[in-house]
Amino acid sequence: MAGFWQGQGKCARAIGLTFLLALVATPVFAADAPGTHEGVASCGGSTCHGRLAPSGKTVRQNELITWQDTTSAAGTHSQAWQVLNRSRAQNISQRLGLGPAQNAKDCLGCHSEPASARGSKFQVSDGVGCEACHGGSGGWLSDHYRLDWKHGDSIKAGMIALEDPRARANVCLDCHFGSARSGQFVTHKMMAAGHPRVSFELDLFSALQRHYDFDADYVKRKGLSSGIKFWAVGQALAVERQLSLYADGAHSNEGAFPQFYFFDCQSCHRRISDEPNAALTAEANPGRPLPPGAPPFNDENIIMLSAIAKVAAPGEGASFDAATRNFHTVMAQSRDPSAAASQLAGAARSLANALATHGFGRDETFAALDAVLNGAAARYTDYEGGAQAVMAADTLLNSLVAQGTVNRASAESLRPQINKLYAEVHDTNAWRPAEFRDAIRQLAGAVGRLK
Ligand code: HEC
Ligand code: HEC
Ligand code: HEC
Ligand code: HEC
Repeated sequence: MAGFWQGQGKCARAIGLTFLLALVATPVFAADAPGTHEGVASCGGSTCHGRLAPSGKTVRQNELITWQDTTSAAGTHSQAWQVLNRSRAQNISQRLGLGPAQNAKDCLGCHSEPASARGSKFQVSDGVGCEACHGGSGGWLSDHYRLDWKHGDSIKAGMIALEDPRARANVCLDCHFGSARSGQFVTHKMMAAGHPRVSFELDLFSALQRHYDFDADYVKRKGLSSGIKFWAVGQALAVERQLSLYADGAHSNEGAFPQFYFFDCQSCHRRISDEPNAALTAEANPGRPLPPGAPPFNDENIIMLSAIAKVAAPGEGASFDAATRNFHTVMAQSRDPSAAASQLAGAARSLANALATHGFGRDETFAALDAVLNGAAARYTDYEGGAQAVMAADTLLNSLVAQGTVNRASAESLRPQINKLYAEVHDTNAWRPAEFRDAIRQLAGAVGRLK
């Protein structure tokens, strides 16, 4: 990690150059092509984003320190490549016959920064660097801090509009779900070799890696940031990503088997009992017309999207629910579910667009919480759906606090119920659906009393 401290390099040079250019008006150095990833050292100079304190006028300018802080989740991305050197990763790659994990292209698509063009300071060992999310800076690095340069100018030059929930969701999902690009897909084979289950919720994970302020200046430049909107659009695009990858043919199977990554893990990984009166551990689910023994497609995001659609886009929500039922039915009956999967992906895409332009108010946020905690409760038969619902509860309560609808102390008074829910989903092997549903309904009651 040395290098960042001396890493003023390009940035400091460019500051000098802007001044020079103003005088001579002819470019004296050729910038790299737009889209080129210049590397973290190009962003992290002490006069750029590498200050010790968040003392910048417009942005904090100590983003590098937050990104590097390994004591918090906000610093995880700087370690994404380093973890490949550790024994867990080495065991995975050895079991899969991939050679050293830190060089394996099946791992690098998510554990380092995918960059088709690299500047001289780009280093794979930086893990998931600034440009993995903000976009290759070749087209804007030397201009984006100019006083007469607007955010929109950067976007035109290749910066990604992360304040747009659709753009942000698509960036995160590439690694926090998977994509069709090379090296960006975690298979069940990798899970069986030791890779952790991948779990994601856009708003909560954004909060966990936050290195920016939503101050008046941010709002002026980028508009208000709505937690419930990020959550809702994140759910819609997660469904779209999951179903379109499942439908694309290249990711739907592993040998003769379907790609188990798309299914609820616990539904296959259960205990078997020979007791004559044994109660079954699998439960019927009202959202999925499946016979016993059919592995359910993981519907954690489908359940959330259905809940928010009922509140914010009921018409489209009804078509989405119909496409969902059709998809599960086809899964139990046909060898080729790709048409039903594409149809469901399309319904989710259309909901993403509707939700991204929707204005969410106080009543809708309460209604969304009620839909997740109460309305959908009967659908929490499986671990994944439960875990996603807990993240939703956390996110939506935060959104109520951020809107000024609920004060922090009242929200904090619900901590015991939320902690109880987190405890219920702490261990995938100890999933107790009936107890979980009781706990989530208790929280629903407590939230109702906040209104
Ligand atoms: C689609 C993206 C993706 C691919 C491909 C991928 N990973 Fe991961 N990996 C992740 C994410 C995301 C996490 C964090 C999971 C979480 O905590 O939610 C992770 C976590 C891990 C962890 C645990 C890290 C820790 O901090 O404990 C290891 C080890 C790991 N991956 C190794 C590998 C190896 C080895 C490969 C290649 C065989 C690989 N990964 C491929 C996305 C990916
Ligand atoms: C995991 C993705 C990710 C990584 C990695 C990342 N950022 Fe960000 N960054 C975001 C998101 C999301 C936002 C908030 C949305 C926005 O307004 O752009 C943001 C916001 C910012 C802002 C504030 C923008 C504003 O208008 O107030 C700055 C500055 C910034 N990031 C710089 C950096 C730097 C420098 C690095 C590397 C040291 C970095 N980021 C790494 C995702 C990321
Ligand atoms: C290029 C791939 C990539 C992109 C893009 C990416 N991440 Fe990650 N993220 C990872 C990997 C890999 C890990 C796990 C690294 C580890 O465990 O060391 C991770 C970990 C995290 C963690 C820490 C989770 C934990 O359990 O501690 C958060 C939070 C996170 N990412 C949020 C985001 C958000 C929000 C976005 C989009 C704005 C995003 N990430 C974009 C690859 C990526
Ligand atoms: C359709 C059924 C099915 C689904 C769904 C499924 N698995 Fe598996 N899993 C299997 C089978 C079969 C094996 C191989 C068992 C063996 O080798 O004895 C396995 C093996 C594993 C192993 C290795 C266990 C060991 O001790 O060797 C892990 C870990 C694992 N799966 C995790 C997951 C995760 C995580 C998910 C969800 C993303 C998942 N599985 C979804 C069927 C499934």
